[in-house]
Amino acid sequence: MKVKFPRDFVWGTAISAFQTEMGSSEESIFRGTDWFQWTHSDQIRKEGLVSADRPEHGDGFWDLYKEDMLNAASLGTNSIRISIEWARIFPLTTEQVECIVTRNQAGGIVGVVMMEKGMSEIEKLANQVAVKHYLEMMDHAKRVGLSVFLTLYHWPLPLWLHDPVEVHNSNAESGKKGWLDEQTVIEFGKFAQFAAKTFGKAVDIWETINEPEVIAINGYYSAPSGRFPPALDNPALVFEVERNLAYAHTVAYKNIKIACPSSPVGIGCAPPCFSPASDNVYDSNAAEYARYLNNEWFLNAALSGLLDQDLDEVADQRIDGMSGSDFIGIDYYQRVRVSSKSEQNHGKNLNFDILPCIDCTDFQWDIFPEGISQVVRWIFHKYRIPIYILENGIADSSDFKRSRFIQEHLFWLGKTIQDEEIPVKGYYHWSLVDNFEWAKGFSMRFGLFEVDYSTRERKKRQSATIFEGICRSGEVEVS
Ligand code: FCB
Repeated sequence: MKVKFPRDFVWGTAISAFQTEMGSSEESIFRGTDWFQWTHSDQIRKEGLVSADRPEHGDGFWDLYKEDMLNAASLGTNSIRISIEWARIFPLTTEQVECIVTRNQAGGIVGVVMMEKGMSEIEKLANQVAVKHYLEMMDHAKRVGLSVFLTLYHWPLPLWLHDPVEVHNSNAESGKKGWLDEQTVIEFGKFAQFAAKTFGKAVDIWETINEPEVIAINGYYSAPSGRFPPALDNPALVFEVERNLAYAHTVAYKNIKIACPSSPVGIGCAPPCFSPASDNVYDSNAAEYARYLNNEWFLNAALSGLLDQDLDEVADQRIDGMSGSDFIGIDYYQRVRVSSKSEQNHGKNLNFDILPCIDCTDFQWDIFPEGISQVVRWIFHKYRIPIYILENGIADSSDFKRSRFIQEHLFWLGKTIQDEEIPVKGYYHWSLVDNFEWAKGFSMRFGLFEVDYSTRERKKRQSATIFEGICRSGEVEVS
């Protein structure tokens, strides 16, 4: 069975700043983020919230980006997805920079604009070395034939906005509260306005925020694959953070569109394929509710201004002034099998279990290629805007399963585009190179290129050749 992709399909690989930049020189190391502090705290490590690995022993993309981009281009891809580190650009606070904040009727922040005075203040605060370096990186991508997909925010917050350990220890009673604080929305709006003006000419496609629901759930409730700062356990905070992230997307979207009206700007998310563990109605309801809470709650708020405060799947407030999105970015990795714990509540009120994987990756994520098709169909039919697959990949240190993983996922994706005319515009494989996998450190190997962390040498994996064949031919065949 063979499928063909559209001629103008975007083929790419993806990485993020924090996960790849550090390791090659003192300049490559940046200490001013919550994630850096979090991964260096002995206490957090003793609590088992992070591995013993340190991000500064990583890939060194900061210095080795030319080699990595050349490797990316050698796969026959035509685009690369990277992110910029907010705190590298603004190592000191921007809170005093003058701006106009607009609120909607519900009091939420739907506009943050710096006028000339604010703009010149913020430009003085920007770290020019970092700005220049990022511009050179983007320039180089173009030079080797890769368009630039830029994620503005891929998780680390500046320390001046978030004290993760203090917030963790005080149960959010003290310390800078990151996404729990609407000041972070305001500063993100400024950062977006600055970034759009500064990098706008070099960027082809923008994503405002990578996986807002993962930031909220892993940071404030639970996560089988590893907790994120500040690792609190309070479901109410999950939705407070998601609401702030919906507003953050809105202010960033608007600011980027003003500076770059013809560039697509979108939001990303990571929907698994939630599947009922059996065909009984309780498991089906539980799977549907998991899907709603995990992804639809946020997308309904950010794209349509529908807020559901009591989590009963019915919006109780319509907020105005939300920006919407030009596309939805989907990061698809796994199936999650859901089983209801009770017959009484039809699987509602978080009363469900997640079952172990059947075909497992090193991360114990369940491989289910057909799921990419189900997720794309669900998201498109619900939100009716174009889609990019911004991440799809596998932790597989032996490279034993990756080739088949790529072929089968791309087969299902191509088939869905072909048979159902769903506008999926591109596919970015996670990841170009092995990298620092957040709470798990270097143990999870997602790269098409293997990295030897003692020499920082890159080696092309067998599966990268399979991916290259698909990108070059624009078609994929499975038996
Ligand atoms: C996604 C993240 C990315 C990487 C992959 C494995 O959720 O966006 O940074 O960690 O998972």
